[in-house]
Amino acid sequence: MSAETSPLSLPLELPNGSVLPNRLAKAAMTEGLADSRGYPSAELERLYARWGKSGCGLLITGNVLVDRHHLERPGNVVIDREPDADMRAALQRWATAAKAGGAKTWMQISHAGRQTAAIVNPQPLAPSAIALALPGKQFGTPVAMTEADIAATIERFAMAAEAAKAAGFDGVQIHAAHGYLLSAFLNPRANQRNDRWGGSLENRARMLLEVLKAVRARTGAGFTVAVKLNSADFQKGGFSFADSTQVAEWLTAAGIDLIEISGGNYEQPRMMDMEGVEKPDTSALQASTAAREAYFIDFAIEMQRKVSVPLMVTGGFRSAAAMTSAVSTAGVALIGLGRPLCVDTDCARKLLEGEQQTLDRWERQLQLGPGWLGPHSPFGLIRMLNGFGATYWYYQQFRHFGRGEKASLGLSVFSALLRELREQKRWLASARFPE
Ligand SMILES: Cc1cc2nc3c(=O)[nH]c(=O)nc-3n(C[C@H](O)[C@H](O)[C@H](O)COP(=O)(O)O)c2cc1C
Repeated sequence: MSAETSPLSLPLELPNGSVLPNRLAKAAMTEGLADSRGYPSAELERLYARWGKSGCGLLITGNVLVDRHHLERPGNVVIDREPDADMRAALQRWATAAKAGGAKTWMQISHAGRQTAAIVNPQPLAPSAIALALPGKQFGTPVAMTEADIAATIERFAMAAEAAKAAGFDGVQIHAAHGYLLSAFLNPRANQRNDRWGGSLENRARMLLEVLKAVRARTGAGFTVAVKLNSADFQKGGFSFADSTQVAEWLTAAGIDLIEISGGNYEQPRMMDMEGVEKPDTSALQASTAAREAYFIDFAIEMQRKVSVPLMVTGGFRSAAAMTSAVSTAGVALIGLGRPLCVDTDCARKLLEGEQQTLDRWERQLQLGPGWLGPHSPFGLIRMLNGFGATYWYYQQFRHFGRGEKASLGLSVFSALLRELREQKRWLASARFPE
């Protein structure tokens, strides 16, 4: 399909008047390239200068953490106090590099909650003191947040958003998906509080809505504020699709500019179509053709019947045909792309220009080994190591791009696992956050 006729090439105007040049967005992907103070580094700028030429009309950064004690991984950018001059300059350079090719750029802001790795914090704050049900000792038992913890966290989300705006980012995306703090508040399995922050859906959604309100108050009406939300957690007794639709309605009423639909958490990693991970069950929904590869699209179609806000769908999109059908027939506003951009950083441009019709599926090949060593191993720990190893393989590619190198396609998952573990330890040992 030519660039002129493809609906993917059409601009998108958001409710606040901001215009995205086309319908392809780089989804948030944690980079781990902050310096030892948690400030954006030259490597991060280089990576985004590259993605700035990806063809995507929107770049969403990897999660920037609003609390140094609740990193999603070592090497995250952290904004948890008023940025000093160095931090302001580094943030500005990051935004400038990303936007140089004409893409809008949003900063994703997050707090890892109970999904903070034990090497970062063995007793992280969370809605309730309920540990993740995962093998190994990667994550500690969390501590339930007090009212004061909650108020301070809301304030830090707002401060981080203000810093993003001041640095030249076009918007922020509040991360309320994948089991991190705001997603855990929504999840009745993780949130068993009996105060105004837990119990009914209205109470469980309060944290997210208060964060949104505080972010808006500090950034003003013209600044884009989006949310990444789970369509469901896909766990018995967890955050359901009915819950998600209701929360989307409340977010719309509260003036959100866009909702990105994803799903799952560390216990049920449905956000990633990987070997060994089951796809979400959509049998209760009307099936669209794009659903064969994009596993959350049928949730988005159903949700779009209830809310007027533009929806972005991320997860599994690999063909121009499915993306085009999602935008032109299913009414999806934006297509999120993750893993393909970790290998071929300008694959969106190739799709838009008709040079390529499908994107590579590296996720099908990345595994520790055959048989019991693979993602279908009978051993839970091995399955988990396959999951981490595949993700670390992408992280290694970011390091190559950050150094101005090409992707290292011959890298084994095992080597990626070892290298990343070493990098994480090194970063943690050198971390010196400013007071
Ligand atoms: C290396 C990597 C890092 C990721 N980091 C984040 C993140 O920081 N925030 C987030 O919301 N999702 C994150 N994700 C999930 C992606 O945004 C996306 O939802 C997922 O990769 C599915 O899309 P895809 O099939 O196009 O890869 C990450 C995914 C990968 C592969």
